Amino acid sequence: MSIYNVGVSGYNAYLIQAEKNVLIDTVPFEYAGELKKNIGEYISVEELDYIVINHTSYERCSSLCELLKIKPDVAVISTVSGLKNIHEQLNGDFNELLAKSNMTLRLDTNNTLKFFITHNIDWPDSMMTYMDGILFSCDAFSDEGKGIEGYYIENLSHMSDFVYSAMCFLETVDIAKILPASGEEISDCKGAIKLYKELSEPYDGDNRKVSVIYYSKTGNTEKLAKRCEQFGISIYNVADYSKKELLDVIYKSRGVIFATPTHNRNIPFEMASLLMSINHFKITDKLFASFGSYGWSGEAPNLVYSILRARHFETYSSPFRYLFSADEFSLSEFDKFIKAFYEKIINI
Ligand SMILES: Cc1cc2nc3c(=O)[nH]c(=O)nc-3n(C[C@H](O)[C@H](O)[C@H](O)COP(=O)(O)O)c2cc1C
Repeated sequence: MSIYNVGVSGYNAYLIQAEKNVLIDTVPFEYAGELKKNIGEYISVEELDYIVINHTSYERCSSLCELLKIKPDVAVISTVSGLKNIHEQLNGDFNELLAKSNMTLRLDTNNTLKFFITHNIDWPDSMMTYMDGILFSCDAFSDEGKGIEGYYIENLSHMSDFVYSAMCFLETVDIAKILPASGEEISDCKGAIKLYKELSEPYDGDNRKVSVIYYSKTGNTEKLAKRCEQFGISIYNVADYSKKELLDVIYKSRGVIFATPTHNRNIPFEMASLLMSINHFKITDKLFASFGSYGWSGEAPNLVYSILRARHFETYSSPFRYLFSADEFSLSEFDKFIKAFYEKIINI
């Protein structure tokens, strides 16, 4: 049995040459010609018995159609959602083989593939393939020029719950070498799994925390944001934190209030960009609210609610809005709004 990396341009694809020949993952469509050439260094594409698709993203799967033109009856192995995605991508039938958790596939007397279903690392379809101490981990432990930690933070951190449970499982598996979909092979497998486990560890802190995240250009929204501190609420000015830090605040809070003025009948970019980056996997038990100063039309706090509701997040009552600098009446109404929101959170 031999294993060759037949990938192209940093996109790894692995050929296992045994009594049954297997290709693990493919490369982006534009590199299909080079992939075929690389396979051809060892066997002809017609000699492939199986193609394992660990993940159906463009980078990993889009050359499959070119291989099927040469070997239409090769068995394509993927998860339930992987096979469904391939159907939608090819718009045609193929010889499919469903990978189930811990299912094995014998290649010859000494070599057997095993499939680990690891949904959401990083699509619902994802799985890993294992053979005698070697883990074909697909996008887990990938590099893409960012280092494995950088790749995790950018591409997988929003899936941390799924990563964490996959790592707990992988700790129980005997792994001598990891062959990821991008980057060098990894021999310090325990170290890589430990790193991913630390990065994805679930937050176990104060689950009653309430935070106000605010943007304010001329101080009117900031004035009321600062007023929230008297209720024990933490406040964060978007100008003072990175998006990653603010997302972390959101994920670690039970109640989150977005405070924003209206600019050009819209949400200012700094706030909109943060809202668009919230990941739904992290938002199962949170309550959101919004307030903000405005001059004449005041759409922003309402838009915050619309976006959150469209994404099925729970919002509190109606947004609180006030003209320019809040007067005494607005201040007392605001205090009632914040107090009621805070009490709702701590009494959940
Ligand atoms: C560039 C710009 C665009 C604005 N556009 C709107 C608008 O479309 N609708 C509105 O009600 N107020 C608008 N305003 C007014 C602000 O919402 C208002 O001055 C608010 O009090 C500013 O809050 P801040 O002091 O927290 O920045 C705009 C202000 C600026 C600076």
